[in-house]
Amino acid sequence: MEREEGGTHIVLAHEVDFATWRQAVRYHVARGTKPEELSWSVLKSADVFGQNVSQPVWTIPEAGGALTLPRSLVERLVLAIQVNDPDRFSRLYRLVYRVVHGGLDLQQSNGDPDRLQVDQWVARVKQETAAFRQAFAAYYRNGGRGAWYCETHNYILEANAAFCRARVAETWMVHTPYRSMKWDGHALLFGEGGQTPSVWQPDATWPWDGYPNTVLIPTEVERQQAKTLDQLGAEAMDCRSCALWKPAQRTVFGEGPVTAQIMLVGEQPGDQEDKAGHPFVGPAGQVLDSALKDAGLIRSDVYVTNAVKHFRFTWRGSHRLHQKPEQDNITACRAWLDAERRLVKPALIVMMGVTAAQSLLGRPVTISRERSRTFDLAPNVQGLVTVHPSYLLRLPNPSDKQREYARFVEDLKLAQQCMTVKL
Ligand code: URA
Repeated sequence: MEREEGGTHIVLAHEVDFATWRQAVRYHVARGTKPEELSWSVLKSADVFGQNVSQPVWTIPEAGGALTLPRSLVERLVLAIQVNDPDRFSRLYRLVYRVVHGGLDLQQSNGDPDRLQVDQWVARVKQETAAFRQAFAAYYRNGGRGAWYCETHNYILEANAAFCRARVAETWMVHTPYRSMKWDGHALLFGEGGQTPSVWQPDATWPWDGYPNTVLIPTEVERQQAKTLDQLGAEAMDCRSCALWKPAQRTVFGEGPVTAQIMLVGEQPGDQEDKAGHPFVGPAGQVLDSALKDAGLIRSDVYVTNAVKHFRFTWRGSHRLHQKPEQDNITACRAWLDAERRLVKPALIVMMGVTAAQSLLGRPVTISRERSRTFDLAPNVQGLVTVHPSYLLRLPNPSDKQREYARFVEDLKLAQQCMTVKL
């Protein structure tokens, strides 16, 4: 922060240096600094990557006390700071200043020019973020190897780091005109912009901190209007419908072709699924893969998902022990399952275990009484109840295991017989 004649100039470390901007706002709003007394600029990326900066020029004294603002305003600020408009830092400061000192009521100020401008920026960033998220999911689904160049016009990359890491646990690399971002499996690295950047900087190193994190909590309308599985899966990453999102690492969404005739529904992701971001990739997934093969089915032909999309667990020392989801979790997540059904339109849904069966049938279920027969689940959709593959893993006796595995395969064969083929 430098005092200049007639005002104070604040230098931000990068285009989305929300942390410094917020620190400056707290300090200056508390002191009553008028918007016209502040000017803002951003350090050039050549200076940052070339380490031409000898000291953090953006250090600002503590304001001494937090600034309390309506949550909806803070959410708008986080989005609006990502817009590609050099005027945003001062315009956003002015909005906050007017809310605190000028009595501006955001509920009653639809025509206010500052508010209108910020709302436009928010809409622009939201739209581009949604497009970025869908395209990122498609990039990964289509192979995900190498780098993806995304022609984004706003500064949205850093604020989507958490989203990208949640959506794809494997390594990935995204380049944009102004910045590149890479997850190497251990650390998040940022580099120069352009199609083939050469300089990478570890996230943990000064000054790469203070990124805003865009959280777009999906609304029911957005869920119902999602047109592709990529879009739906992207919406689900920021789901807050129940409390499970917080301890879990990520939403584990369903996977498989949108044309699948069979949908397999399990309970919830386990420890390995939560880490990998894919359903049924741990021990239960191996049993499932083997049984599908023995039943004459190919995993990549079926759609595999869970009744609950987050891992529910309790800590036992350094281990995360599986806990059954509660009814509230199942109910909250049912809308995602319905949305998957709407897009995939399976001819048959296989409910593996009690949680899946209770979620889809909406009543208590005893597996032994209802398994191994197909029935009408909904118009043009058959249902089939069977055991969960982890039940087989828990059986202590090898001969019981063998017998129950064979029954599970028989159930999947029933499913296989429901598949139609074109002559
Ligand atoms: N168990 C489940 O029900 N689902 C998974 O994805 C993994 C284990």
